[in-house]
Amino acid sequence: AKPRGRIEPPTLVAIRDAAALLRAGDIVGMPTETVYGLAADALNPEAVKKIFAAKGRPADHPLIVHLPSADHLPRWAASISKDAIALARAFWPGPLTLILKRSPDVPDEVTGGQDTVGLRVPSHSIALAMLQVFGSGIAAPSANRFGRISPTTAEHVREELGERVAMVVDGGPCAVGIESTILDFSRDVPEILRPGAITPEAIARVIGRRPRVRGEVEEAQSRDAGRTATASIPSTLAPRVSGALAAHYAPRTPLRLVPPALLADEAATLAGEGSRVAVLAHSQADPRDSRLIWQPMPADPATYARELYASLRTADTLDADFILVEAPPDDPAWRALADRLGRAAVGSGEG
Ligand code: TXA
Ligand code: MG
Repeated sequence: AKPRGRIEPPTLVAIRDAAALLRAGDIVGMPTETVYGLAADALNPEAVKKIFAAKGRPADHPLIVHLPSADHLPRWAASISKDAIALARAFWPGPLTLILKRSPDVPDEVTGGQDTVGLRVPSHSIALAMLQVFGSGIAAPSANRFGRISPTTAEHVREELGERVAMVVDGGPCAVGIESTILDFSRDVPEILRPGAITPEAIARVIGRRPRVRGEVEEAQSRDAGRTATASIPSTLAPRVSGALAAHYAPRTPLRLVPPALLADEAATLAGEGSRVAVLAHSQADPRDSRLIWQPMPADPATYARELYASLRTADTLDADFILVEAPPDDPAWRALADRLGRAAVGSGEG
């Protein structure tokens, strides 16, 4: 037998092997355009349970089901509004997850017992090939241990899960780099539960109204109250969406978000106190202070997103006392990144 946890190049043979493993109730690492997923047959409760065990994730956190195409929607969702169909047409395959009322076929293990299910069609060609060969829904959370940084390469999946997965199909580095936008369409008012590459503005252009964004009203209020908006953490953090827990996407090294104007000073101060400091900066040049590990980050948000998780992982291996991250601008194009960095800061430093 081939060893567990192996990384396979994305050949047709590997894709068929992966589909066969899924049919047999095993779990495999699957590339997507956002992050790597930990895949199981969504209709097999025993297989889905293996996902929770491998991740160390509480069982009441629901999973996203990946579909080969929007044609599969009626099998999984009970009521599909015109707007939901329009969004699927506009953004699938792509990084948008729709939360819809579930069909009775969807196992409780997938939905965490809720009456809704999260669905998306990924755009990565290897994910689509796996889905087409498998021919049904694949449940897949991000392929990291619970609370940690999502993997954006096959090697990251191996670091996170080792032999807990049967195999990892190597689809190269993820093009988007952060998780999909989650849009809850199951209630009266559409609401973004997790920001991502598909923005509220892009959704509004399709359905003619701007979805609510979880945490947005509260952010505006805290701004009015005179608190700093940059580097603020979205304040409505209902655990209904585990990706929306305050502590998530987190390195083990304590991570601080620092406004651009204070970054170099704060880094120098910490270094002066004898700390080892890694700095991720997107808008300023390396001050050439030999006490600092200065990591330049892309100034463009899409490129920044592609590199963020790999950079955090690397920073976490440097044996640093702190990771300082230059706070992102208060700009819609940086919204999803501000969200992830805020949660990474809250969850950091635990081990
Ligand atoms: O980009 C992505 O979405 C990646 C790739 C692999 O597709 N997947 C991903 O899965 O990020 P995960 O499990 O790490 O995050 C999915 C989030 C979780 O926070 C979960 O709570 C939420 O989606 N979710 C899933 N189904 C839900 C539902 N029915 N209601 C509310 N939230 C749901
Ligand atoms: Mg995740």
